[in-house]
Amino acid sequence: MDYQSLIAKAMEARKQAYAPYSDFAVGAALLGKSGRVYTGCNVENASYGLSTCAERVAVFKAVSEGERDFVAIAVVTEKGVTPCGACRQVLMEFGGDIQVIVADAAGEYRVFALRELLPDAFTPKNLR
Ligand code: THU
Repeated sequence: MDYQSLIAKAMEARKQAYAPYSDFAVGAALLGKSGRVYTGCNVENASYGLSTCAERVAVFKAVSEGERDFVAIAVVTEKGVTPCGACRQVLMEFGGDIQVIVADAAGEYRVFALRELLPDAFTPKNLR
């Protein structure tokens, strides 16, 4: 799947964002090695700290459906910002060799390696 198609899926997912408190809508589309795509949007809560990012929704959907190996994630926000630290860590759990495609609402995008966004990460191998 090409970057544009993955971004298009993240844009679709972004329309489902439940963000009445921040008014900051985020969409994500995570491409598994199987070829399946798992989408996510941010889901906020009146108890603000319970809000969940779009990227983590996508990862948890994938893992709960049996997929743990990923190729890339597209993340769409209005201005094209990189994922928060918590989401970088959650993505890193399943391997650093993924591409993080960060797009804005117009579809302009930048591509990062996850390792570049979270250098010298704490990973499962550190527990062995
Ligand atoms: N958010 C995400 O969904 N992903 C990120 O990487 C950064 C932040 C959400 C959480 C919250 O609903 C809103 O954006 C503002 O922080």
